[in-house]
Amino acid sequence: MQIEHADFVMSNSDYKKAPDPKIPEYAFIGRSNVGKSSLINMLVNRKSLAKTSGTPGKTQLINHFLINKHWYLVDLPGYGYAKVPKSQREKFTKMINGYILNRSNLVNMFVLVDVRHELQQIDLEFMQFLGANQIPFSIIFTKADKLTATKLEKAIASYTESLKEFWETLPPYHITSASNQMGKDEVLKAIVQMNESVEKHFKSL
Ligand code: GTP
Ligand code: MG
Repeated sequence: MQIEHADFVMSNSDYKKAPDPKIPEYAFIGRSNVGKSSLINMLVNRKSLAKTSGTPGKTQLINHFLINKHWYLVDLPGYGYAKVPKSQREKFTKMINGYILNRSNLVNMFVLVDVRHELQQIDLEFMQFLGANQIPFSIIFTKADKLTATKLEKAIASYTESLKEFWETLPPYHITSASNQMGKDEVLKAIVQMNESVEKHFKSL
């Protein structure tokens, strides 16, 4: 898929103020600093459409980007970073959960995890929360450029093994790097396929 248009629409602290839910939407979530905003920029070929930072807690609102005038990408605040003050973490959790549980046009969540880390309790709990609420999700491994090919393969194998302790069927997953564009075509292809599968529903709205 060619990204011809990628436009910032608005930032909100409350999903109720988000744009009309008339077109499909895909949201990016994961621990603070995992690379959500960087991945969005990579996917849409823009350096700083979504604001990134080396300091965790950069994204503080629900940010909507309109892609090809036809669907939204949503950049969300991160969860669970110990160095982000507790009051801010609680605010983010409330904002994120409200969004996830109520946003009617949300087709899929992409849960980002740093490929260098083992399965973390907080990510596991978040994925279980999505499962319990029947929110479709895929996993995106980020920062693949930080590992050699051999270590990368081992890390993915180990992570998916850990997931199998909790799920019989694994969610779809993608391996990416915002630094070298790894996984870009694959993630965009997955979105194209999901867009096609929900096309009828959105046309009927
Ligand atoms: P919050 O908004 O704070 O929750 O963070 P975020 O998940 O949006 O992360 P962000 O995209 O701001 O990136 C955090 C840091 O990781 C920045 O310093 C990025 O340059 C770096 N980073 C993101 N993706 C990659 C990647 O694929 N490879 C490498 N090497 N660094 C990355
Ligand atoms: Mg961010």
